[in-house]
Amino acid sequence: MTEIIKMTGEPDFEALSEAASALAGGSLVAIPTETVYGLGANAFIPESVNEIFKVKGRPQDNPLIVHIDNLDMLSSVVSEVPKRAIPVMEKFWPGPLTLIMKKNPLLPSEVTAGLDTVAVRMPSSKVARLFITLAGVPVVAPSANISGRPSPTKYEHVLEDFDGKIPYIIDGGASEIGLESTVLDLTSDTPVILRPGGVSYEELKEVLGHVKYDEGLINESVKPKSPGMKYKHYAPKAEMFIFEGESASKKIEEMLSQLNAEGKKTGVITMSDRKFDSCHVLSLSCEPYAYAAGMFDALRQFDALGVDVILAETFKETDGLKAAIKNRIYKSAGGKVILC
Ligand code: TXA
Ligand code: MG
Repeated sequence: MTEIIKMTGEPDFEALSEAASALAGGSLVAIPTETVYGLGANAFIPESVNEIFKVKGRPQDNPLIVHIDNLDMLSSVVSEVPKRAIPVMEKFWPGPLTLIMKKNPLLPSEVTAGLDTVAVRMPSSKVARLFITLAGVPVVAPSANISGRPSPTKYEHVLEDFDGKIPYIIDGGASEIGLESTVLDLTSDTPVILRPGGVSYEELKEVLGHVKYDEGLINESVKPKSPGMKYKHYAPKAEMFIFEGESASKKIEEMLSQLNAEGKKTGVITMSDRKFDSCHVLSLSCEPYAYAAGMFDALRQFDALGVDVILAETFKETDGLKAAIKNRIYKSAGGKVILC
């Protein structure tokens, strides 16, 4: 049985505290964060960390992010804090930014998949931080989805993937941002963005002066530096195509009539209130924050409807949050992008 602990409406602090103690003692607990829901475990219990890999079906070489609730906890996770990390932490923590630093040798190697670096983040979600405070230990948490599936932005998504497989899910309502944190490597000469996310390239550049994207994000023939970025990800069960550019709606309409003639069940993600015939339509905003907040939920809704093919309109530009939106939605579609 999976127990759902409500932290929306009338929050159940007693149950939250019980789940936090269970996590400290070795149990897995799914927690809400401002980015996506995470599947949490005590970072210092190797068996619990291994259990995460098992229930998610996560490849063994893909390290986890350690979540902390205050800076005192940081010293148990990293061996040193590089000087240039300080203004970054001051500006973006708590928040959707994960920093890669040198690992504390006492942190179990299961967390980092054997690497000598570690990913660490202080979430801004109040429920997440209170949970970590109550647990009293750093909490490892990958996104709380079966590996490869769209990331969870509501407790219902976590339940879909893990009902009966984990003892607790904390319901903190819908994740505010709806896509994962930015992963920034601070161990190389120039800070490198390994995964675009809730904090943008432009925002980081303003604080750091210089920052670049990992070559593996831009060039398909280069291996990404972040182990997780090489795997198929965020995929709905349906086949998916992305459309971007001025005539996206027109191109979607053309492909729709072809698919409908073939008897396919179709779903459309649009950025306007334009109507499409004979298909399920989910309208996401043309405002990037609202688009991101609804994106993974839309993919899961289409799965629940048993749609065969999803045609999704997205942004042409790559500034700000749009870089992260495009990174995720391209992966969801396995790179099938139609420029219009
Ligand atoms: O927003 C988030 O970051 C969410 C919430 C729950 O905090 N978590 C999340 O975790 O997205 P996950 O496991 O789905 O993604 C972690 C990413 C992976 O791409 C992984 O390869 C990378 O971080 N990563 C972790 N440790 C690393 C390291 N030492 N060096 C390079 N990349 C690392
Ligand atoms: Mg993930």
